[in-house]
Amino acid sequence: MRAMSKPLVLVEKDDPIAVATLNRPDALNALSPEMLASLAEEMEALNADEAVRVIVLSGGPKVFAAGADIKAMATASPVDIYLRNTRQLWARLWALDKPVIAAVNGVAFGGGCELALGCDLIVAGESARFGQPEIKLGIMPGAGGSQRLAKAIGPYRAMEMVLTGDPISAAEAQAAGLVNRLVADDQVLPAARELAGRIAERPAVAVRLARAAVRYGVEHGLREGLEMERRNYRLLYDTQDQKEGMAAFIEKRKAKFVGK
Ligand code: CAA
Repeated sequence: MRAMSKPLVLVEKDDPIAVATLNRPDALNALSPEMLASLAEEMEALNADEAVRVIVLSGGPKVFAAGADIKAMATASPVDIYLRNTRQLWARLWALDKPVIAAVNGVAFGGGCELALGCDLIVAGESARFGQPEIKLGIMPGAGGSQRLAKAIGPYRAMEMVLTGDPISAAEAQAAGLVNRLVADDQVLPAARELAGRIAERPAVAVRLARAAVRYGVEHGLREGLEMERRNYRLLYDTQDQKEGMAAFIEKRKAKFVGK
């Protein structure tokens, strides 16, 4: 009956913004391998869609995601985990080259927190909570949490979260630099769309290359990041939008960007 089952990820397009929503609310959007595969497929399709400039990733109004699916992992061997190849699915999500905004309501725990950490910006509702509770299950973060959290909020705060497994509130996450916008719970999606809209108005190639430089610098050292920055900076002088943006400034008018 697989063909008749509900889609695990819902996609709604309102060009130039697309919203992808995890759709396993009964299991608090636990990220089963099937859910991750479906997410990777949908996100790649949106990334390849020329009309889409910014992607919002939501878990719906109650929960972002409560982590990897514990029921699918409880009796797994290391070889089972290896053969599931979820590493590859995560890598596909991290390889997208358009901005992704996480719209977080409720819990973003374990793989759910890691999913948000893999995004470029985070909008959170006031009841949202972020946590890496894996330690309480006898494991540890396995999809970037131990690395990205430390880079995002600093090694000491990340260490406490990873070693105690205790979550932080949305307000604490914002104070720590993890959350870009903290809004009322029912304003998460509108606020994420608004932020997406502001970015979508900017010259599209510059957005992608600037985003790539920031991410590259976080993932590599300063020297490599500076090289990437310089290369992308130079490349932008070959775009119509650079000519238009600078001409509009000099002529004191609003720029009309074409995304090339
Ligand atoms: N995996 C599988 N099922 C999950 C789940 C998960 N991560 N989280 C919740 N569920 C299921 C529950 O089993 C329950 O299903 P049933 O109704 O069939 O029993 C349903 O979702 C509702 O959950 P709760 O009854 O527990 O809801 P709650 O509101 O009482 O508690 C919660 C919410 C605090 C988030 C709690 O569900 C919880 O602690 N979940 C687990 C969080 C966790 O440990 N995440 C890390 C997973 S490991 C990981 O992510 C590894 C990695 O780095 C990749």
